[in-house]
Parts: sequence; C-alpha cells; structure tokens
Amino acid sequence: MANQDDTFKKVISHAKEYGYVFQSSEIYDGLSAVYDYAQNGAELKKNIRDYWWRAMVQMNENIVGIDAAIFMHPTTWKASGHVDAFNDPLIDNKDSKKRYRADVLVEDFREKISEKIEKDITKAKKRFGDAFDEKQFRETNPNVIRRQNQINEITERLTKVQEEGDLEGFKQLILDLGIICPLSGSKNWTDVKQFNLMFGTKLGASAETAMDLYLRPETAQGIFVNFLNVQKTSRLKIPFGIAQTGKAFRNEIVARQFIFRMREFEQMEMQFFIKPGTQGEWYEHWKAHRMKWHLSLGMGEDNYRFHDHEKLAHYADAAADIEFKFPFGFKELEGIHSRTDFDLKAHEEYSGKKLQYFDHEDNASYTPYVLETSIGLDRMFLAVFSNSLQEEELENGTTRTVLKLPSVLAPVKAAVLPLIKRDGLPEVARKIVEELKWDFNIIYDEKDAVGRRYRRQDANGTPFCITVDHDTLEDNTVTIRHRDTMAQERVNIDNLRAIIKKEVDVRNWLMKMK
Ligand code: GAP
Repeated sequence: MANQDDTFKKVISHAKEYGYVFQSSEIYDGLSAVYDYAQNGAELKKNIRDYWWRAMVQMNENIVGIDAAIFMHPTTWKASGHVDAFNDPLIDNKDSKKRYRADVLVEDFREKISEKIEKDITKAKKRFGDAFDEKQFRETNPNVIRRQNQINEITERLTKVQEEGDLEGFKQLILDLGIICPLSGSKNWTDVKQFNLMFGTKLGASAETAMDLYLRPETAQGIFVNFLNVQKTSRLKIPFGIAQTGKAFRNEIVARQFIFRMREFEQMEMQFFIKPGTQGEWYEHWKAHRMKWHLSLGMGEDNYRFHDHEKLAHYADAAADIEFKFPFGFKELEGIHSRTDFDLKAHEEYSGKKLQYFDHEDNASYTPYVLETSIGLDRMFLAVFSNSLQEEELENGTTRTVLKLPSVLAPVKAAVLPLIKRDGLPEVARKIVEELKWDFNIIYDEKDAVGRRYRRQDANGTPFCITVDHDTLEDNTVTIRHRDTMAQERVNIDNLRAIIKKEVDVRNWLMKMK
C-alpha cells in the first residue's frame, strides 16, 4: 500500500500532468505557496464555486450574493481585530534555520499519537472480526487509554498557552514534548514570536500621499461593511444571509502541502444575520446544512468529521471545523463560526455609523448576531481532486489511473472519439460535438488507439466517452462508455444529451441535500 507521502506526490504530479494546477511563475523557479489553475483546473474550480453558489444563493430565498472589492479602507482591519490579533506564533530551529508555526508543530505531534490509536484499532478490528466493539476497546485497551490521556493533556496545555498568549509556555510545551525539527533532527529552538499574516500594500500615486492598505485576509469583512446597504436595498428581514466568493491573502509561514495552505487563495463565505439569542440553534442548523452539501457530492461519509475549536477566535462564541481526510490526514476544510455581534459592533464603533436592524415584530432596533460558514475553494478543490484520484487493478492484470470526479464538477463532461480518422467518422463525431457543446463542455479526440484515448479521458476525469464507429453511419447509434464502471452501451445519438444531462445536472446532485 502506498504511504501518505507517495499518494500526495501522485496527486501533485497528476494535477500538473493533466493541466489542473501549475506552480506559479514556474519558468522563474516558481513562487512558494502560490499556484496557477490550468485549463482543467480553472473549470473544476469554477464548477465547485458554482455548486456552492447555487446551493447557497439560488436555493435560499433569504440569501443574496455580493462581490466586494479586495481593497478595503484600512480601518476595516483595525475594527475587525486583524491588525492587532491576526498573528501566528512562530518558532525557528537554530540548526536548520527553518521556521515553523508553533501550534502546527504541537498539533502534528498530537496527530501522530492519534494515528497510532487508529492503527491499534485497525489491527484489533482485523483480529476480532465481527465481534469487535470499538467503544469498549477504546475504553479498556491500556495503550489506547495512555495515548488518549497524552492527547488530552497536550490539547489542554495547547489551549491554555493559546488563550493566554503565553509565548514562553508555548516554547516550554514544545520542549516538554521533545518535538524535533524534521530537517535537522534537533531540539535547538528559538523563543516563540508573534507574526502578523496580512500583506501590506500602497494605494496612491506618490510615496508621500500614498495610503497604506492591506490585501484582505478574509472576504467576510466585505460583507459586514455592506450589511446595511444590502439589507436596505434587498428589503430582507432577519434572519438573512449575504454570500460571496473571492480572493484572500495571507503571508502564511508554514506554506506547504500544495494548494492546502496558500498565500493567495479563494474563499466562499456566507454571513447569516440573526436575532441575538438564536445563535445556538442557527449554529447547529448551519453545521448540519453544510455537512449535507459536502455529502451530496458522494465523496464518502467516513472522510468527514467535525472538530470543535478548543481555542476560539477573538470574534467567536462557538466554532467548529468540518475536517476532510486529505492524503496527509484529517485537516480543516471549512469553518462554521458563531461570530456574535463582534464585527458589526466594531465597525459601528470605528466608523461612527449605526449598523443596526429595526425589527418590526419586536418594534426595536438591535445589532444582529452573525453565523458564518467559510470554506476555502482551493482546499475544496484539493479534497475533491485527491479523493477522486484512484488506481484500479483491472481483471486483465493491468492498472488504470482514473480521476473519479463527481460528474457535476468534472471539467469536461464528454469526449467524442471517432474510432478511426477516416470513412466519414470524424465528420459525424464533429457534428455530435457541435450539437452537445451548447449544453456541456465537450472535447473531440482522434489521436491514438481508442483504448488509449479511454485511458487518457479516465485520467482526465471525463465522465463519458462517446465513440463513433462504422455502425453509426448505418443506424445513428454510438457507444457511450461510463468512466467509473467502464460499462459501455449502445445508444441513439439523439439520446446523448438526455443521458449526459441526467448524470451531470446540478439539480440532481443538489437534490441529495434534501
Ligand atoms: N472568515 C473566517 C475565516 O477566514 P478561517 O478559518 O481563517 O476563517 C476559512 O478560513 C477557510 O478558508 C478555511 O477553512 C480554509 O478552507 C480556507 N483557508 C484559510 N487559510 C487558507 C490558506 N492559507 N490557503 C488556502 N485556504 C485557506
């Protein structure tokens, strides 16, 4: 079985080889943690964004979408707390000179212990078969108990040093756990320091008059500052939501793991404005609803889990992550945050403008509370892409590489292939492309033997291959091949549109959320 590193390396090289993701400015040796989406990647990304937008905006009459600017007045970031509190605790290894996020070092260490528990459980499952009781095993096995206690203790100490901003305590925790630098193998650490993640830039023609700005580190603030404008012009009543997708920028220190943690990335966020006191029920509602959205894509229930935050951000009174099983383990994919009235109150204070809602039922004004759902589009891309990439052993002893993307998200929905390049077959194939391209992204491919073309489309994630052969000229039928099962059926050309539509239609996928 391939290990996690090998699997992940395959994901990265497949993304490049099949035109999904390229290193940015590669001809200049690239830019760390910055990536470009290639011809297929841009389509996949757009389809994920559309799937989110349709579920969020189109399917909810009380949610509207906006597109705010990346540049915002600098006071925005003072009010939001990002100038003072958007920091990562950093630590350097004196021997390798490598810089790490102190919290990530501790979390990775804890995750390794957790993986050991999972291994013990897998072994025991094999040994005991159907008689295995996982709950009982967790509660009674001495190794599991010891490891779980260790995890709990680390979590408790980590939360404490984070909450208290205790940088000395942070270093002590790293020393006590005996964490070593993966590069130098040494425990020769500097003190822990705080580092602000926002990128600064300037707006204006001359150095003297230019205004210092930040590239936005989250899209959410563009929603908060527009709250009243949107509410008044849309006449929406609380509870209602404002959604937006767009770029965000963070000077991430631990920028590794491909597009998992980038310096320029895209978020899909929704702020749901609610009556104070109702945040508990809306928090549960959005946790469940967002999980349904993920599950509708059919990527396996076991690949998701909730993780409640031990340390709450400065704006939150409750928060959880939806974690996904990436090739390098379970990691955050989406955040659900109960943000209270922190942001609106702060913007009221800093701008001097009232950002309140008049509730006609209560005949009173109040500052709404906010429930936020926030997912990284690039991270979702990685979840979809890595989960879909599979190697299958075939009956004839060969293996095939197949990208089993949910067909609603696949960049190309069908490839049309003339069996050979003569006898009028290319002309018929071209006609089919011309007909289908009004509804779907279709490609035409006539190069190589048809078996190789099938493999190429499998690896590309194309759900259907349509082959035109000599019988087509006689009876207007073609072979349609399904990517996931490799099953082939003979169908009339006139039915192709309906067959593809049934499989890729957003409506049919979103229905699974019901
Ligand atoms: N408005 C709330 C907010 O920004 P966050 O947990 O910092 O919360 C939300 O970010 C989501 O954005 C994360 O769950 C993740 O999917 C994505 N994200 C955050 N930083 C990222 C980065 N450096 N690269 C890629 N995605 C990132």
